[in-house]
Amino acid sequence: MVGIEGISFKDKKVLIRVDFNVPITEQGTISDDRRIRASLPTIQQVIKDGGIAILLAHFGRPKNGYEERYSLMGVLSILTSLLQQPVVFLPSCIGEAVEDRIKTLEPGSVLLLENIRFHKEETVGDSHFAQALAALADVYINDAFGTIHRNHVSISLLPTYFKECYAGCLLEQEIAAIDKLFATDQAPFVAIMGGNKLVDKAKPIEGLIRYVDHILIGGGLIHPFFHAKEAQGSFDNYDPAVAIATKLFDKLMHHKHCKLWLPTDVVMVPERNKEVQVSTLLLTHIPYGSTIVDIGPATQVHFTTLLAKAKTILWAGPIGVFERDNCVAGTVAIAKAIAQATERGAYSMVGGGDTAAAMKQIGYENHFSHICTGGSALLAYIAADRKLPSLEVLKR
Ligand code: 3PG
Repeated sequence: MVGIEGISFKDKKVLIRVDFNVPITEQGTISDDRRIRASLPTIQQVIKDGGIAILLAHFGRPKNGYEERYSLMGVLSILTSLLQQPVVFLPSCIGEAVEDRIKTLEPGSVLLLENIRFHKEETVGDSHFAQALAALADVYINDAFGTIHRNHVSISLLPTYFKECYAGCLLEQEIAAIDKLFATDQAPFVAIMGGNKLVDKAKPIEGLIRYVDHILIGGGLIHPFFHAKEAQGSFDNYDPAVAIATKLFDKLMHHKHCKLWLPTDVVMVPERNKEVQVSTLLLTHIPYGSTIVDIGPATQVHFTTLLAKAKTILWAGPIGVFERDNCVAGTVAIAKAIAQATERGAYSMVGGGDTAAAMKQIGYENHFSHICTGGSALLAYIAADRKLPSLEVLKR
């Protein structure tokens, strides 16, 4: 990938694909503006240089064209205040009106186009749509790290229509931060994998096996791995997640250096009543149908002991229901252990919106080497052995 350092954008119209897909509260206010802040260096470099920054982004997953709640108008005021200059907003992202308005802009201007996903062509793929977007600018920059795993027009096809296309500062920085996990060979490498769905984590876990020494399992991944281990490949109740976990156990057999650790004890609630008091039990003793909401104290000791020796750490996905006061202890213990390891010189990365939100909630967001702005993108990049079409296209 070619970055933008040393590139002149003077008098150029520069289409910057950014990821402004930020979390919003039920009242519609932005609860975490990290992604918008993270896109500022690229935008600022273009405008300082005398270029026109044309920002292209998606927001949410609209199904049928325009929907007010998905309008990028919602990020306009925060973007304006962060940039400390006016931002022109247009209610579309293609067409003559957009082209005409761009012609009137002075060098140094910033233009925000409406949500590209209001056009279904973005997600289904359409070369005419790509051409219409390409007509807006002279240069393309991808700075949407959080979206690099999508084979959408603005990510993978659009850059092919430009002679000049670059990786923005955020994209370069995120990729360098992830590559560092694998480049330094600083063992032990410990990965903590949590979250809800094993189906989303299976390929990344598979991708990690040959690099990491320990994989610690938390959150919703505990159940399938536990059942796969108990059943030893002969389970009667076919559960797709258990089948995935069984396959991962098979892979681990061929990589004896990598150990996968399940909690020995967990905090749980009966499935039907999540509000009742939690109990701590051995994993082997939890009743059928219960929900695991945290790792237990013995597991905290085991996991934090492994983390204390780690030189490289990746944490993707919450290990418990951290939003509840009585289920946050495991998250705090793990965060503290990683923070201490980082202080001693380990390289640590936290990825994923939920994990980052957990760190913010418990006041640990500044205690790691890096917090990634895109959880799915991080995992997809690892799963694809660090080769994604969206990035390969920027290597031309
Ligand atoms: C994200 O938040 O993961 C990215 O912005 C991609 O969004 P998507 O999952 O709706 O494609």
